[in-house]
Amino acid sequence: MRLEEAKRDYYRRRAKEEGYRSRAAFKLKEMNNKYHIMGRGSKIVDIGCAPGGWLQVSSELVGNIGQVIGVDLDPVKSVAKNAIIFQDDITSPETSEKILRVLRGDKAGAVLADLSPKLSGIWDMDHYKQIDLCNTVVDVLPSMLKEGGACVIKAFQGDELQGLIQRLKKSFNRVEISKPNASRKESSEVYLVGLDFTGQVPERHSEVLPSSHSSEESSDSIESDWQQSL
Ligand SMILES: C[S@@+](CC[C@H](N)C(=O)[O-])C[C@H]1O[C@@H](n2cnc3c(N)ncnc32)[C@H](O)[C@@H]1O
Repeated sequence: MRLEEAKRDYYRRRAKEEGYRSRAAFKLKEMNNKYHIMGRGSKIVDIGCAPGGWLQVSSELVGNIGQVIGVDLDPVKSVAKNAIIFQDDITSPETSEKILRVLRGDKAGAVLADLSPKLSGIWDMDHYKQIDLCNTVVDVLPSMLKEGGACVIKAFQGDELQGLIQRLKKSFNRVEISKPNASRKESSEVYLVGLDFTGQVPERHSEVLPSSHSSEESSDSIESDWQQSL
């Protein structure tokens, strides 16, 4: 068995044994240990939360005096008393309004986004769509994230990644690029960790998706990547 397959199986087995809904749970645990993104009493917004691994980890870490608000297009089974889950699209303004209503004038200590769009099979298109979702998350940060707060955003590598990183660098005093152990080496995903939010984000430059054209590189690695993270 190749080392990467063995690693994937290891995290899958651990997820099952420890009752986590996805092996992605271990990615968040590792990043939280390293960057101290959340702690007891924090309020967390988790965008793209199905099936709920990150929700479970966040719910444990913030404890019953904290709160977790999850959003996904897909239905998600409830996690714990301190977690509220919406089945909604983050690109819709009503979704942000719902989250803000739950926050009741307060702001979150961290916004998490492990988003993966429905994949078309066209590499460039899927990359643009994913980065577009990440930019939507950055757009909502000033309304949801308190100054000094943190974000963790999964991004697929490709042409648009640098633009997203630059945008985050203007929004956070520290930005780290993380590749947790539970993320397969060959996968194109990286996690952008923003620390010490300034309270403001710059406008995004471009929202234009490329026209569909085939790329030499298949989307298989991206698709299998996030599906295997479950
Ligand atoms: C890799 S999964 C998240 C795994 C999750 N972090 C966990 O630990 O279980 C990515 C999720 O992003 C969601 N997603 C994609 N586009 C979305 C959108 N526009 N609004 C909300 N969720 C979205 C998908 O439905 C999918 O469940």
